[in-house]
Amino acid sequence: MLSQELASRVSPKNRYNYHLSEIIRQRAWVEINAEALTHNVKEIKGLLSPQTALMAVVKADAYGHGAIKVAQIALQAGANSLAIATLGEGIELREAGITAPILILGAINTPEEIAAIAHWQLQPTLCNPQQALLFCETLTQLEKSLPVHLQLDTGMSRLGTPWHQAQEFFRLVQQLPYLNIASLYSHLATADEPDTTVMEQQHQRFEEAIAQLKTCLRTLPPLHLANSAATLINPKLHYDLVRVGLALYGLYPAPHLRSKARLKPVLQVKAKVTQIKTIPSGTGVSYGYQFVSDRSIKLAVVGIGYADGVPRNLSNRLEVLLRGQRVRQIGAITMDQLMLDVSAIEDLQVGEIVTLIGKEGKDEITADDWAKELGTISWEILCGFKHRLPRILMKSEAQIIKSEVFF
Ligand SMILES: Cc1ncc(COP(=O)(O)O)c(C=O)c1O
Repeated sequence: MLSQELASRVSPKNRYNYHLSEIIRQRAWVEINAEALTHNVKEIKGLLSPQTALMAVVKADAYGHGAIKVAQIALQAGANSLAIATLGEGIELREAGITAPILILGAINTPEEIAAIAHWQLQPTLCNPQQALLFCETLTQLEKSLPVHLQLDTGMSRLGTPWHQAQEFFRLVQQLPYLNIASLYSHLATADEPDTTVMEQQHQRFEEAIAQLKTCLRTLPPLHLANSAATLINPKLHYDLVRVGLALYGLYPAPHLRSKARLKPVLQVKAKVTQIKTIPSGTGVSYGYQFVSDRSIKLAVVGIGYADGVPRNLSNRLEVLLRGQRVRQIGAITMDQLMLDVSAIEDLQVGEIVTLIGKEGKDEITADDWAKELGTISWEILCGFKHRLPRILMKSEAQIIKSEVFF
């Protein structure tokens, strides 16, 4: 596919250079808008009191945006710390030279993982007394201390000790050597829903746990409860820090939260037209002939498919932007390619760019649109853009930072 001349320039040494960015834009890619990300960090910080810190949630490769770059930009824009889900995600950030505090939101249950956490100076979540004892035992052998974050279950029924046992759990960890309590937190199950009943109950339970701790502590550890939705909804939920994921990436957790901040989508997904042909009436398109033309159609093949994160269930339902117009996708979306009906577009050329998610002129297609069509959430759509799509860092919507191509 690459010409010999271009291929010879793509050595590991110049992986990130301009020539590669040219090559990468041959098929399909993701554009990450650094200006939009910086804007979102500042917009969210604008909602917080000066005492409240912002933890940027960059798990799942920063919701498909690229964890290292997103972490670097978010920290530079004013985020105070990072959160990831797995040990591997934390190591990736440390190996990239990121020194900010990193909280692991997932559960850690083996001595090997604990040793690695200590080595990489990551900060684990402790969910129950057994786990705290295992951490203590391993860290005693290693003679290393760790900041640890205690998680309470106030109603999510996922990780954490029941909120009414907060004092017992806290006191146990407090007595264990090598464990320094860095925060106490909980996670909300329904913060993005217009009905706030469950959220208020969880908030109240968190307050009850805090009241329990106040009876035996002079100073409370830092407290946190809010995800993006709770951060947008109510400053009472902010406590000492907020853990924000989706809003950083410029999407709203729910339509009713749109008025709370002016967020800008960070990611765009683009691909190129790779072949154009005319098919006669009655021609089946793609696997299973889910689409059969009822007239002669000009068809364009585009180099992106479900292995890149375009859900196959969008087959025959997807629209894309091409020359600022909405164009219909036809037939089953395949692993690496999909087809469009481009009959309405005059003189289309191979190599023209199709926007699957993003803006062209006044029109825009968002991850929310896909999520709505599929009956899922935008978080899942974003996380679907995995490593096969190279990411190109843009200074702003239109300006490529030529030297910055990353995977
Ligand atoms: C424990 C925890 N905190 C915060 C977040 C961030 O949530 P959001 O993306 O809604 O801001 C998540 C994401 O799932 C999470 O699991």
